[in-house]
This record gives sequence, C-alpha cells and structure tokens, in this order.
Amino acid sequence: MNTSFTEKYGQWAVVTGASSGIGKEFARQLRKKGLKVALIARSEDQLRAVAELLGEDNTRVIATNLATQEGIDTLEEKTSDLDIGLFVHSAGAVHLGPFIDINETDIDELLNVHVTATTNLAHIFANRMKARKKAGGLVLVSSGFALTPVPWIAIYSATKAYVLSLGEALSVELKDHNIDVLTVVPGGTKTNMAIDIEKHLDLKKIPLPMGSAATVASTAIKSLGKRDSVVPGVLNKMMAVMMDKLMSRNASKKMIGWMIKKAFRKMPEKRSAGAQS
Ligand SMILES: NC(=O)c1ccc[n+]([C@@H]2O[C@H](COP(=O)([O-])OP(=O)(O)OC[C@H]3O[C@@H](n4cnc5c(N)ncnc54)[C@H](OP(=O)(O)O)[C@@H]3O)[C@@H](O)[C@H]2O)c1
Repeated sequence: MNTSFTEKYGQWAVVTGASSGIGKEFARQLRKKGLKVALIARSEDQLRAVAELLGEDNTRVIATNLATQEGIDTLEEKTSDLDIGLFVHSAGAVHLGPFIDINETDIDELLNVHVTATTNLAHIFANRMKARKKAGGLVLVSSGFALTPVPWIAIYSATKAYVLSLGEALSVELKDHNIDVLTVVPGGTKTNMAIDIEKHLDLKKIPLPMGSAATVASTAIKSLGKRDSVVPGVLNKMMAVMMDKLMSRNASKKMIGWMIKKAFRKMPEKRSAGAQS
C-alpha cells in the first residue's frame, strides 16, 4: 500500500531545536508536506518568528529548556492534546576544548540535551505513537563526530555516538509498532552552531565540507521509512566511509585529534560555569 507522508506521520510533528538551523529547516519542510508542527526551543521570540513564517494556525510554540527535567515535562504536557505522528530531535549544543577544562554546567548541558532528553523524549513519543495504533516516526539528529572518538570535542562526540547507537537499536525494535526510526548523521552544516565552532577552530585547516541545513532536512525526510540512518551530502558520505570503514578506530581518532588541535585559533581557557561559548 502506498501510504502518503501525512497519512503515515500526520497530523502533528514535534520538532526540537526549531528556532534555528537544521531544526528550523525540518519544521519548514514538514509544514510544506502538510504536517502541523509544534516548535520547541528555549528562545520564544525566535520560535514565534518561525511560527509566523509557517502559519500560526498550523504551528504551536513551546518555549522550554530541554536540558532540564522540568523542560521535558513541559513539552510532554503541552503536546498531550495533539495527535503526534512524528518526533524530530534536533536540539543540540557544542562545547570545544580540553576535557580537563570544561566546566560542570557545559558537561551537564551536553549530557542532558543529547543523552537524557533524547532518551526520555524518544520514549515518551514512541509510547504515544504506539498507543494511537497508527504509524509514526522518530528522527534523531546525531553528527559525523559520532563515527569516531573526537579529541578536544570528546563529550559532544561521545554523546552523539550515544544518539546514533540508540537510534539504530530503536529502528529495529520499533518496527514491531510500525514506527520508523531514522538517525541523521550530518557533517559540517552552515548554522549558528558552525559559526560558534568557527570562533574557536579555523575550519580551513580541517577537510570538513560544509553543507546546508536544507539538504540535511530534505535528505532525512526522503530517507525516513526507507533507511535506519543517513549521512546527508556526497562528500560527507565519503568522509564517513573513510572514518568508519577504511581507517582503524585508533588511526581515525588520532588523525582527527591532530587536525583539531592544529586548527584551534586559541585553546579555549577554563570558563566559569554558565559562560557562553
Ligand atoms: N551545524 C553543524 O555543523 C552540525 C553538524 C552535525 C550535527 N549537528 C547537530 O544538528 C543539530 C542542530 O544544530 P544546528 O546546527 O541547527 O545548530 P543551531 O542553529 O545552533 O540550532 C540548535 C537548536 O537547538 C536548540 N537548543 C539548544 N539547547 C537547547 C535546550 N537546552 N533546550 C531546547 N532547545 C535547545 C536551539 O534553540 P535555543 O537556543 O533557542 O534553545 C536551536 O534551535 C544539533 O543536534 C547538532 O549537534 C550540527
């Protein structure tokens, strides 16, 4: 049977990280496909601007901090009346620099948004999709830095490896409930996060192709239900094969660590808790 996208994943999608970058593109493209979209991030003003762009009648703004349990509870509660067929978790943060110098607030943010929120929200929305007895989908945004351990970005890399592993395992388990799970493995993408990284790293010294958020979202949407994971962009696919299949894990972690160390404009100094990167 050829089920349409909206029949399968409608009528509401929940998109985290929808205030900018890849999440905002997911929201735009899913809306274009006919889904209504709940827009999630911390900055309410930016979410309202996205809602205005996509049509306020077909969107819901939920400003909440997913690094906290309270924020996850708020999202669960404020979507409880919606028929949700698709959950996209794009919210994410990055902190670079020596592991030894990272402060506790930044460690908590990375673990909470990438590990705790991903796990709890996937659990909440998978259960809701199971209960509604129709099809559904989960899209988890990981990173090319999940494919090998990345020194100087160690916690980000390790937490994104968790996202990839969780997503791939769930893609098998949740088939029994007609829920498609796709883990997206983007390479460098021109967003606010990349601008932030560029403040610390001279990206010209790393062979990191930069793609667009639009390509990441469209590739993921096309791949949902057809594959378990996807690396958007031809150059990124080639890099992924090299890191993951052609090189030993030992060699790839040393090579990327060497490149990143050389690319630092200035090693970030130990920052006090709560400081912005
Ligand atoms: N850009 C890249 O090169 C790249 C490469 C690979 C993977 N990724 C992944 O792609 C995803 C999207 O990142 P992006 O590149 O689109 O960067 P971005 O433009 O900075 O978007 C990050 C989004 O996450 C939201 N967010 C961050 N912390 C949050 C929190 N505690 N609670 C709720 N929302 C939060 C941000 O909104 P607020 O600040 O308003 O909360 C924003 O909407 C991330 O998971 C990232 O790790 C990015």
